[in-house]
Amino acid sequence: MVPHIVILGSLNIDFVVQVAELPAPGETTLGSNFQMIPGGKGANQACAVGRTGGKAAQGMMIGRVGSDLFAERLKASLAGAGLDVSAVQTVRSQPTGVALIWVDQRGQNSIVVAPGANHDWVPADLNGVRSMFQGARYALFQLESPVAVVKEGLLMARQMGARTILDPAPAQSLPADIMSSVDVLTPNETEACILLGRKPARIDLAECRQVAGALRALGARSVVLKLGDRGAVYFDGDTEIHQAAYPVQAVDTTAAGDVFNGALAVALAEGKSRSYAMKFASAAAAISVTRPGAQSSVPLRNEVEEFLRSRES
Ligand code: RIB
Repeated sequence: MVPHIVILGSLNIDFVVQVAELPAPGETTLGSNFQMIPGGKGANQACAVGRTGGKAAQGMMIGRVGSDLFAERLKASLAGAGLDVSAVQTVRSQPTGVALIWVDQRGQNSIVVAPGANHDWVPADLNGVRSMFQGARYALFQLESPVAVVKEGLLMARQMGARTILDPAPAQSLPADIMSSVDVLTPNETEACILLGRKPARIDLAECRQVAGALRALGARSVVLKLGDRGAVYFDGDTEIHQAAYPVQAVDTTAAGDVFNGALAVALAEGKSRSYAMKFASAAAAISVTRPGAQSSVPLRNEVEEFLRSRES
């Protein structure tokens, strides 16, 4: 049986505009090339599970959308990537989540999310989808859903025998008791600093071990620090794996972290080594930044494998 992976999280329609420079507060700036693209951190991770998993993994999405056309487009995008979307529930009280995104010439972005339906649920609602976690090898979470729902989902996933991966994005501090349900915590530098109650700052490679140690002391079993174009570092008690970023020409970094997490889960769920999983995830993320948009940028499994062959030959 192929391993199954559950993704609990947000689904957003991204309204994307290209700009020369990200606007400063109070500034009006002209942009171009407006597009509506399926996004949301949860759905992007799910799309990455579907596309990079191919026939080797089955992804199942749990989330909430409004009763509108955006919802249909989001579910179709995930179903097209091979996901089971039967646990994406429709609410009538809120619209589907949207994200307003500016992307500059260097591929950097600014994002504002109006969560809508993504915030319209409570922990008790998870009782209806408990069976989705049955037999799951991994369960993926992020922080665009209510923290209480994420906490309950982490507990449920663990009780049902799944390993959990928490992407603490967007950055926020978390209740102390949530980390003990996290097998793999995957912060970027800002998120790591905020979780540790520090001012956001760049983390030097030499400092990574101490930061990961402090995050593990909060309860997470292992930590993958995502350092953008400086790569990613995996830490658990005995192992430290440094994975350099693959050099590519970035056009849009939107969802690169989501693609990394989805692909990481696929490789780990297949029983690949942690160092191969880090390579696979980094390659998938590298391809995604060479393409515009969120789900529009997620590579297929054969593209990731071909990329790795080309970089290693
Ligand atoms: O991580 C990228 C995602 O953040 C975008 O797709 C947007 O929807 C926001 O959730």
